Amino acid sequence: MMSNRLLALFGRHDESTALPYDMFDVAYPEAEARRARRMENIYHVGQSKIWDGRDVLAQAIAKYGKPNLAPEKRRALARVFGMIMWGELAAWKISAQLADRLVPLEAKLAAASQVHDEARHFYVMHDYLETLGEKPAKLEFWAQRVLQRTLGTNNLLKKLIGMQLTVETVAFVAFQRVREIEVEPVLSELMTYYERDEARHIGLGIQLVPQMVARLSMPGAISLAAFQLDLLVATLFSLKTIERDLIEIGVDPRSMLGMAFRKQADIDTKIRAEFPQWPADPPLRRAFEGVCEVLFPSEGADAKVPVPVRMKHALEVVARTRQSVFEQWGQRG
Ligand SMILES: [Fe+2]
Ligand SMILES: [Fe+2]
Repeated sequence: MMSNRLLALFGRHDESTALPYDMFDVAYPEAEARRARRMENIYHVGQSKIWDGRDVLAQAIAKYGKPNLAPEKRRALARVFGMIMWGELAAWKISAQLADRLVPLEAKLAAASQVHDEARHFYVMHDYLETLGEKPAKLEFWAQRVLQRTLGTNNLLKKLIGMQLTVETVAFVAFQRVREIEVEPVLSELMTYYERDEARHIGLGIQLVPQMVARLSMPGAISLAAFQLDLLVATLFSLKTIERDLIEIGVDPRSMLGMAFRKQADIDTKIRAEFPQWPADPPLRRAFEGVCEVLFPSEGADAKVPVPVRMKHALEVVARTRQSVFEQWGQRG
């Protein structure tokens, strides 16, 4: 049977205007209490590590000067970070939905602090792009699909997996990579702040998702897997559409993929500490690494690798006789 508390986690959309006066009634088992404290902490750390986006941007510009890039590079950077900017707006909306729908106090606090963070991420990115002298374009089809599906689902678990564990992971890795390769110093400075915030948002997913997954029915699990696969493939296609821009600013898309797999493996390890039945090397991930090999061959973006060869390599990745993007890029550190 599903506990009241868990039912509450899944939200009560029929009662979305009601106040949950029974929210303090349920006694927490030990592990759940620990998770609740961690979620509460996400809110408090968010408050103590808060930053003023206007100051941080102005100080970075005072320190490094206005961004000064060759036109080609500047436009590529603006296309990639224009996407990020719209992604931040979607994250703002999605976390506001979570802040409304999650009932347990600690989870609700964490989501509320995320709303505030995403609002800041959105306006700071907008101001940065303005300084760069570029107007953000509309989202391309695949990125739009990832965000729309996450915004549009009424299922809280799908929303959490889409936002906290997929979009946040991709954003976190993109920020880390752009900072590491120092595309532009003002942006690198901003990224350290963004990364810190996004790590907390991923943390909310780590605390909430496993207990909800553990209680899924078989049809629920299948529907969730289909949703996840849809998001992952759309994310990959989206990455493919901006491949040229990434290369122009010096980011190898394979490095980002490898790091995203690494981050995912770290998340899985954290979850397994409390839910030992959580799969260590899910077959879905291995299959997905094969798909990555087809779209982003290890020979590089400019190598002309014929489709049959790509398929052969993909099968070798799945069969573990060929290094996957994760093994190539994700094992560092
Ligand atoms: Fe964000
Ligand atoms: Fe975030």
